[in-house]
Amino acid sequence: MDVLVIGSGAREHAIGWKVAGSSRVGKVIFAPGNGGTRLAGYENIDLRINEYDKLLRFAMEHDCLTIVGPEEPLANGIVDLFSSNGLRILGPTKTASRLESSKVWAKEFMSRHGIPTAAFKSFDDPEAAKDYIAGIKGDGVVVKADGLAAGKGVAVCSSKEEAYSAVDRIMRARVFGDAGNRIVVEERLYGEEVSFICMSDGRHIIPLATSQDHKRAYDNDEGPNTGGMGAYSPNPLIDEGRQEWIMRNVMQKAIDGLRQEKVEFKGFLYAGLMLVDGSAYVLEFNVRLGDPETQVILPRMRSDLVEYVERCIDGTLDQAEDIVWDERVAVCVVLASKGYPNAYERGKGISGLANLQGMDDLLVFHAGTRVTDDGRIVTDGGRVLSIVALGSDMGDAIARAYSAVNNVYWDGMHYRRDIGRRALRYLLNG
Ligand code: AMP
Ligand code: GLY
Repeated sequence: MDVLVIGSGAREHAIGWKVAGSSRVGKVIFAPGNGGTRLAGYENIDLRINEYDKLLRFAMEHDCLTIVGPEEPLANGIVDLFSSNGLRILGPTKTASRLESSKVWAKEFMSRHGIPTAAFKSFDDPEAAKDYIAGIKGDGVVVKADGLAAGKGVAVCSSKEEAYSAVDRIMRARVFGDAGNRIVVEERLYGEEVSFICMSDGRHIIPLATSQDHKRAYDNDEGPNTGGMGAYSPNPLIDEGRQEWIMRNVMQKAIDGLRQEKVEFKGFLYAGLMLVDGSAYVLEFNVRLGDPETQVILPRMRSDLVEYVERCIDGTLDQAEDIVWDERVAVCVVLASKGYPNAYERGKGISGLANLQGMDDLLVFHAGTRVTDDGRIVTDGGRVLSIVALGSDMGDAIARAYSAVNNVYWDGMHYRRDIGRRALRYLLNG
């Protein structure tokens, strides 16, 4: 069986790398992939993630099993299109993808089904939103544009004045375009933020290894939010008890709620949660694997991912064994272009990658890279490389990841130097 992976990031590179190790899989094909997926010997096809009809034609001609990385094709109904044409594809339908593509819909869904989340109200009128903000107790307010805004449509505010101006930016200046037709205003929560991902066949759920990403651009969680500057797995903040609590009170409730509403959810369900005292509140749902969480989860997965993908599609996840995980810790450091997450440079020659070949317990997943006509690897995106190391414990994995990073260079390369440090502190001090 050939597998088509849709996307071009390090998450997709990691998915393709993992499925390529399955005895069930023949070829792994990326649409469009990146410089690294090409160098690794996989096939890259020159189709963008939103060329749905062409992707459909390709998958039909090659009879592929398709796995979708990013949210955009899911929100636009690629799963509906492929499955109505008899193809096997993993991911939620367009309707189920509203859990991520509409913040208003997701919040209302959570209240219908008793899933813990911050108090909120949704608005299509800026003045009504401001009246509501004026009445909120305390200063912390979060304003969220309704639609997909590449992870940037959320303003976490420390004062009401900040929140009023966020409403104006989103609804009047329309900095996120139509994503700002409606907004959610919610209470700001204070606690530890964690991510949790499971797989579902629409009825049953199975957890993936716990993980944590680092969203801010600079050390000590300073600077703007990014797609993710690093990650580690497992996440010491989620012990077994907490995992069971999240599975029962968040994940299973979400899958059951969707089914009750006659919406089928097959695929990866990701909850961004805030841990506050003994409870967890959902900040957001994503309907896909996280990036860079995937880059630390899949290298620890000993079981065959393809079996679980097929079981999700077939509705037989209840017959699967628990996934077997490597006991070791994985740490991912993302190397980014100068300027990211704002305007960034491209076309810089990357050196030192050859030094990493053959290093034990080290993986390099590419994102924004391209191979030039004369065979050089150059930067071609904001996040460029994910350097992933496995170690016997958190400290060892961190040390191995950074010693690999020290081999790689391009002009303007930027990365955080504190990936995993918070987990290490927690492990040392509780
Ligand atoms: P979202 O896309 O909804 O997850 O929001 C993006 C980021 O904003 C989250 O990862 C959190 O860091 C932050 N955030 C969202 N909602 C809240 C909230 N209610 N309280 C505090 N921080 C929040
Ligand atoms: N790492 C956050 C995300 O994938 O949305």
